[in-house]
Amino acid sequence: MAFVIREHEPLAPHTVFKIGGPADVYVEAATTDELIRALQEAKSRDIPWCILGAGSNVLVSDAGYRGVVIHPTGGSIRFDGDGVTADAGVTMARVVAESLRHSLRGFEWAIGVPGTIGGSVRGNAGCFGSEMKDVVRAVHVYDADRGVREVWPADRASFGYRESAFKHRPEIVVLSCELALVPGDRREGEGLVREYTAHRAKTQDIGSQSAGCIFKNIPWGRPDIVDASVRRRFPNPPPSGTVDGISAGFLVDQAGLKGYRIGGASISQRHGNFFLNSGGATAEDVRSLIRIAKDAVREKFGLTLEEEIQYVGF
Ligand code: EPU
Repeated sequence: MAFVIREHEPLAPHTVFKIGGPADVYVEAATTDELIRALQEAKSRDIPWCILGAGSNVLVSDAGYRGVVIHPTGGSIRFDGDGVTADAGVTMARVVAESLRHSLRGFEWAIGVPGTIGGSVRGNAGCFGSEMKDVVRAVHVYDADRGVREVWPADRASFGYRESAFKHRPEIVVLSCELALVPGDRREGEGLVREYTAHRAKTQDIGSQSAGCIFKNIPWGRPDIVDASVRRRFPNPPPSGTVDGISAGFLVDQAGLKGYRIGGASISQRHGNFFLNSGGATAEDVRSLIRIAKDAVREKFGLTLEEEIQYVGF
């Protein structure tokens, strides 16, 4: 065991947003065994714990986290026919690159998802019309309450748009994930990766300090959420990068909030669902921006935006 363990560790550097106070204890787990060991230690001492993946879809409070933050880092990828098994800490981009090296296709869309496999399974990450649920065959988990390892077939994970059973059962920790890909032409796959990367660079704030999309898109096909009077105000289908959605970025944009700033946080000029830390932003600055955007969209469209980002330490 070669844990990295630090006390009073500032969390901001471990997030893409670069926002957040210290964790009482911060543990880096480089293997599945280390991850389970860290969970067992926290559990046996009755210390609150949470898992931090790539830190790309989270807002950490200015006070930080009272307990242990466990960060699965790295890990391995195994290939078996058209199956790929990747540990929770492996980045999405690495799985894309290594799969293409094995001439396995169907995961190219994930190239720009700035997360780990574990976080992406938990949030059913997706873009360009695909989601994790399209490729996940099974998820290997550790049930921290019962202290057992299990293999969950994909249908047990109840995947939905940015949703999964894991989001509602924090004691079930993703250890690794089996993906089913398709043998194909490596060069064609690499061409697709270049296209997706160019599209993102044009439309999103790649490389800046943000948490990706702050809000989920609005489910266009749900009459209980988008009633007939609201539907009439949008083209059918409405602008969206997701299947059956209304782009939350489009709504924030239409509410006139692009470029709006509070303290060190601002709403991107390029995409209304990207909030940026343009220098010295606090979590409270971001929370204020979130409140303002929600109020403005509710007032203008009668629609309630829901956060996609996960809150840590609030
Ligand atoms: N649009 C605007 N103004 C804006 C933003 C978007 O008019 O400020 C318009 C665009 O011009 C386009 C439409 O809205 O016509 C859709 O925009 P985009 O293609 O950027 O997609 P999106 O629906 O805003 C979703 C996902 C992204 C994913 C893209 C591409 C969510 C919340 N967002 O965004 O995912 O990368 O599709 O597939 O589901 C994320 O989840 O963190 C994320 C970035």
